Amino acid sequence: MVVVRVEGMADPIIDSSKAGEYLASIGIDYERWDTSHPLPEDAGEAQILDAYRSEIERLKEKGGYLTADLINLSEKTPGLDEMLSKFNKEHWHDEDEVRFTISGHGVFHINTGNHRITSIEVSRGDLIRIPSRTYHWFDLCEDREIRAIRLFQNRTGWTPYYTGSGEDLKQQPLCMGPAYFPLRS
Ligand SMILES: [Fe+2]
Repeated sequence: MVVVRVEGMADPIIDSSKAGEYLASIGIDYERWDTSHPLPEDAGEAQILDAYRSEIERLKEKGGYLTADLINLSEKTPGLDEMLSKFNKEHWHDEDEVRFTISGHGVFHINTGNHRITSIEVSRGDLIRIPSRTYHWFDLCEDREIRAIRLFQNRTGWTPYYTGSGEDLKQQPLCMGPAYFPLRS
């Protein structure tokens, strides 16, 4: 279930179709994918990519993505904080950032340049595409855990270009909080 917060807007958008409409208005693609694949809890990268093969192939064709992988972050990840410090500062890429959340939670912050930061909290079943050259950054939620499929247009890998704007220092992750998590799949 996606939760979208817009700076200056009183209430978050929690309806998926309304969230999709708003995100489309700022150039971000959002989709809900069917997560009823019979995947075991301990499914590995190959098994997960195989389960979502048709969705991945559709996106590859649409967006020119060449490769897909699985990122798996949790408290057990060696150097988690160091890794997060690369994601949680405002940056852009010269390729799209495409993420489909398998489990856990995270928040993508989008700076559309009008001093209104949009925060997109994602969880199981949420696919977002942040177009190349969009200013953004990423935080984990309180559970400090996310598994997500990533798609890439460039085989040389993920290169962030940092803006140094300091916008990221003004924003907190602002997830719905642990009390809300049991309501989600
Ligand atoms: Fe990024």
